[in-house]
Amino acid sequence: MQEKLIEKFHELFGEGGDIRLYFAPGRVNLIGEHTDYNGGHVFPCALTIGTYGVARKRADKRLRFYSLNFEEAGVLESSLDEQKFRESADWTAYPRGVIRAFGEKGMEADCGMDLMLYGNIPNGSGLSSSASVEVLTGFILRDLFGFAATNQELALIGQYSENKYNGVNCGIMDQFTIAMGKKDHAIFLDTATLRYEYAPFMPKDAKIIISCSNKKRGLGDSKYNERRGECESAFAQIGEVIGIDSLSDLSEEVFEQYKASIKDEVCRKRAKHAVYENRRTIRAAEALKQNDIGLFGELMNASHISLRDDYEVTGPELDTLVEEAWKLDGVIGSRMTGAGFGGCTVSIVKEGAVDDFIERVGGAYKAKIGYAADFYVVEAGDGPKRLL
Ligand code: GLA
Repeated sequence: MQEKLIEKFHELFGEGGDIRLYFAPGRVNLIGEHTDYNGGHVFPCALTIGTYGVARKRADKRLRFYSLNFEEAGVLESSLDEQKFRESADWTAYPRGVIRAFGEKGMEADCGMDLMLYGNIPNGSGLSSSASVEVLTGFILRDLFGFAATNQELALIGQYSENKYNGVNCGIMDQFTIAMGKKDHAIFLDTATLRYEYAPFMPKDAKIIISCSNKKRGLGDSKYNERRGECESAFAQIGEVIGIDSLSDLSEEVFEQYKASIKDEVCRKRAKHAVYENRRTIRAAEALKQNDIGLFGELMNASHISLRDDYEVTGPELDTLVEEAWKLDGVIGSRMTGAGFGGCTVSIVKEGAVDDFIERVGGAYKAKIGYAADFYVVEAGDGPKRLL
């Protein structure tokens, strides 16, 4: 595969020069959904699937991009000078946003580059293909131009670029996970302080299965930003009666005591999810430490119910995948993962039950929804790296 990528790069952009090959993972979140922009905890891991990038500096200021995932778009060109003014809806908005964000932070590239990408994360699956491209671009810029930025800074720049240049008001979870991933570990992250802990995540005799609904969704046109706005409004109202820095400062008990101050019922439900999900995530990390994978699974299930009923970001596709999974022996826990509205679910399944899971959940999904889901048995992987 590595040789094939280099060969394709030669074909597109010519041979010679210092050609380098990189990789950045995708991510899956185990629990702690829609908590990251509410100052709460998340518990995701990086994956071994992700985005490959082949890059080479140029002598001039041109930027040339090509993606093997969007071959029909061909080679897309811009330049360092012009890119500040160019807005576009094509995929290069992700790497160009990061290049621009680097410049704004005083890390201005002094020449252009050729960049070819290939991702093996299913597009629009909710496994963070866009954050993977953002962190990968930052990693490449740091390596090619010798910029001083830590991996955490790469994550923050990626998030800034997504917020500012790609129209999604996302939190830090995706970019942080991708930049800081560690093989066989999940990351227990407090998004308010960015304090984190690596938690070994190799459930004994069990596998992580991602079920992809194949219902495509773009974050930008989903209701993601709307949910965030509802939480902000809830925070403003409850914050008037009790001094807090974020919804995640509240325990369930204190929330119940003061929730009537949130006048709008919808906003109250959103806040309830944020508060309870944060506590569930803390409990889940603790359960894992105690080797109580059963409790971990129950908390995953409760997370899905809350996302379905209070946060309302699931929909029939994700609900079907999860509810069919719950019916099966050998399923330790199952829930939607990522932003929702389509995308994927994550399930922890006993090793001996994996084939049965794929067959039964897959069959029921097709019968009910009308098209097939895809299943991936995945492992927690490392953060970004240079391969060649
Ligand atoms: C998307 C965002 C994240 C996070 C999740 C929901 O993946 O990019 O910041 O908010 O949704 O947990």
